[in-house]
Amino acid sequence: MEPSHDRILVLDFGSQYTQLIARRIREAEVYSQILPCTAPLATILAYRPQGIVLSGGPASVYERKAPTVDKELFEQGIPILGICYGMQLVTHLSGGKVAKSTHREYGRAELVIDDRGDLFKGIGEGPSATVWMSHGDRIEHIPPGFQILAHTANSPIAAMKQADGSRRVYCLQFHPEVAHTPAGAAMIKNFVYDICGCKPTWTMQSYVETAVHHIREQVGKDRVICALSGGVDSSVAAALTHRAIGDQLTCLFVDNGVLRAGERDQVQKTFASQLHLNLKMLDRTKQFLTALKNVTDPERKRKIIGRQFIRHFEHESKKLKGVKFLVQGTLYPDVIESVSFKGPSATIKTHHNVGGLPARMRLKLIEPLRELFKDEVRILGAELGLPDEIVWRQPFPGPGLAIRILGSVTDVRLAMLRAAETIVDQEIRSAGLYRDIWQAFAVLLPIKTVGVMGDQRTYEHVIAVRAVTSLDGMTADWAPIPNEVLGRISNRIINEVKGVNRVVYDISSKPPSTIEWE
Ligand code: XMP
Repeated sequence: MEPSHDRILVLDFGSQYTQLIARRIREAEVYSQILPCTAPLATILAYRPQGIVLSGGPASVYERKAPTVDKELFEQGIPILGICYGMQLVTHLSGGKVAKSTHREYGRAELVIDDRGDLFKGIGEGPSATVWMSHGDRIEHIPPGFQILAHTANSPIAAMKQADGSRRVYCLQFHPEVAHTPAGAAMIKNFVYDICGCKPTWTMQSYVETAVHHIREQVGKDRVICALSGGVDSSVAAALTHRAIGDQLTCLFVDNGVLRAGERDQVQKTFASQLHLNLKMLDRTKQFLTALKNVTDPERKRKIIGRQFIRHFEHESKKLKGVKFLVQGTLYPDVIESVSFKGPSATIKTHHNVGGLPARMRLKLIEPLRELFKDEVRILGAELGLPDEIVWRQPFPGPGLAIRILGSVTDVRLAMLRAAETIVDQEIRSAGLYRDIWQAFAVLLPIKTVGVMGDQRTYEHVIAVRAVTSLDGMTADWAPIPNEVLGRISNRIINEVKGVNRVVYDISSKPPSTIEWE
């Protein structure tokens, strides 16, 4: 989509940090893209990259099926930066020697720079040059033609380069992309600006201009439809498309009866009243709740909600004449074909989405966020004038509160969960924790417990509070919410939500648990 921007490719060898590398480069306002390390040389070159980064990875270069690259890659005159496994691979393929370390080096190390040169330009010594190591193998002999640039106490060769003739290869044993390497961003900038010669032109403002142009070209005079959920992705995709084609876009918002308190009104206010977007609100509460009656199996709940959604969406959109396109808020992490990206959770639960719609309705797709990471989508949303409540909204699953009510979904249980959810949300926000937490919510358990209120014995429901920190929802840790905040949440839920006499806090990480309870 961005032919006019410089581009850095990141070849993924399976590191958990690959996406971070691409993000750091983009933070330097240079466009970067991830390709699997198995991409053929011709494919890599067809992207015309100004530079290539070889990521880290879990393998050892001596393993039988260790991932590798075509040696010709080094002969193209394109600057290369090998990180960790990338460095070992460069060494292995260029005639150096990689050996098993006597012990795994993991954690912080002080970098001593032996040759400041271009890669370490402006990087200080001492604590400011702390770097993050995570490797088993290490370089024993550098390849011919290379020179050592830096060392640490445990790694005599922490950085090296070869810069002669057409070869411009730089290698780091540590991870410049992680926050634990404070000068890492500066090193990455040195690589992309000074060594690769890239210009910082990749900004959200330029992204909007290009995307608007493309959407207009793609759509012409046809009509476009969008399934708006109020989540960040569909909201930003809709706002961007609206910026491009105005009233040719119609958004449909389906109230499935399992939304949180006030959600529908907020979407109505933001998109219809403030952004003047063509918004159709479909209240299908009754139909969804009837279909969910007495259903307790989580997967069945998901399937029913998915099917109902498609039915109502399709029915309504057929009333609009001449619709040829569907807008979807697909993000870059969903389309990266990388080695490490898809964790096991991708297949553990049937995620309800609108994936089946385009083929069924014979619509072409508009996916204006396909090149962006989540944090970039937020910046874009702000650039498009969306309010903070939308831009910073925590993710909310398509099947909504149905998968947070364990057991069957009834009006009474929905009311109980909504009230508890509102309290969790309010308290997390007022404690200033909302943006640091990936998701915080309440779950209604299918059991009752004994309590005492006044002089009365009670026998009522339990609410579990779940709050996790995460980067992408693939892995997560329970959030260490301060005790006072937990105390306030518990007090308020027990006092204000009728039918609840106990609150528990979920302290499970993902894996082995998942974020949602169903
Ligand atoms: P789990 O529970 O699998 O959730 O750890 C990971 C992330 O995905 C969200 N989630 C869903 N989103 N449809 C969605 O659109 C679904 O069926 C669904 N199930 C889970 C969940 O909220 C978390 O952010």
